[in-house]
Amino acid sequence: MKLFIVTLVLLCAAAADAQWWSSWFSTYHADDSTPQAVWDGLKVTFGVNPFGNNFDSMPRTTDMAEEKGWTQFGEKTCSAGTWQGFRYVKNSDPAVILLFDKNGYIAGMQMGVYKSDLPSDGSIPPSRITPPWIEDRSKDMLLLTAYFIQPSKICRAGRTDAEYQAEGTGTGLYIQTGPNSTSDVMAAPLRQADADGTDWTRGECFWAMGQHYWYKFRPDMNCDDFYPVFLMYNDGRLNGFGWNINTVLDSPRYESPPTGALSLFFAQKPPCFDEHVRRGLSTLHIYLDDSPSSNFC
Ligand SMILES: *[C@@H]1O[C@H](CO)[C@@H](O)[C@H](O)[C@H]1NC(C)=O
Repeated sequence: MKLFIVTLVLLCAAAADAQWWSSWFSTYHADDSTPQAVWDGLKVTFGVNPFGNNFDSMPRTTDMAEEKGWTQFGEKTCSAGTWQGFRYVKNSDPAVILLFDKNGYIAGMQMGVYKSDLPSDGSIPPSRITPPWIEDRSKDMLLLTAYFIQPSKICRAGRTDAEYQAEGTGTGLYIQTGPNSTSDVMAAPLRQADADGTDWTRGECFWAMGQHYWYKFRPDMNCDDFYPVFLMYNDGRLNGFGWNINTVLDSPRYESPPTGALSLFFAQKPPCFDEHVRRGLSTLHIYLDDSPSSNFC
């Protein structure tokens, strides 16, 4: 009898608890919107298929990430490797790794590729662009990394809620160019006018992408030097960027532009380019605001 009562009490407690939890979950919804900010979103993957997962919105707070089923990736510390920030992935897919600061606000992004998914001859990525590809020994993968705020701030102070509300996705684009996330960082020009005359080379304009800028691009270049990071400008301002790698990767996040489409992106292609692209090309366009369809360059 006594055991029966104890069991009953425990069952009631569990039921009450479950009810409490479910009511709490049904009323609580994470909100990561920043309507006041210029960079008011974070979306990935260009696509024309209305049923595809293109222009997919990424969570910009860890609360939202957890609500949307993203999980921590690797060591659960802010400075676990050569990068800064807490890492999250969805469905264990490292094509998009989100980086959050110590307060849980979006701070950057990585693209990760397991070495086992790369050609076994070690030709991709070419050694000439490794870095910015940097090794993640804990996962046996290679990473590209970019930050949306000063990397030195990510694990020290992080952003406040007021800063996140005002700035949204971030204040800049800092591409990590080597293993030291403090000293090996290249800030992308925020204004298109400031990109002209630098190593960033103007490419072509494409709707729902923007005015592309490639790094150290020359029509007579060695295609092994093709830089894996590019920028996108619209209305004269940086509002997106992207990654590329010269191989086929099977994540649904990646775009696979056909060889015939390349002249849409490059005013003048190097002769080696078509042959390189025929080996396979995976790209990812990343949008720092919420309205890629109004990107008319
Ligand atoms: C990274 O660079 C900074 C600035 O040059 C330096 O102070 C720091 O010691 C470096 N970190 C590592 C791990 O080498």
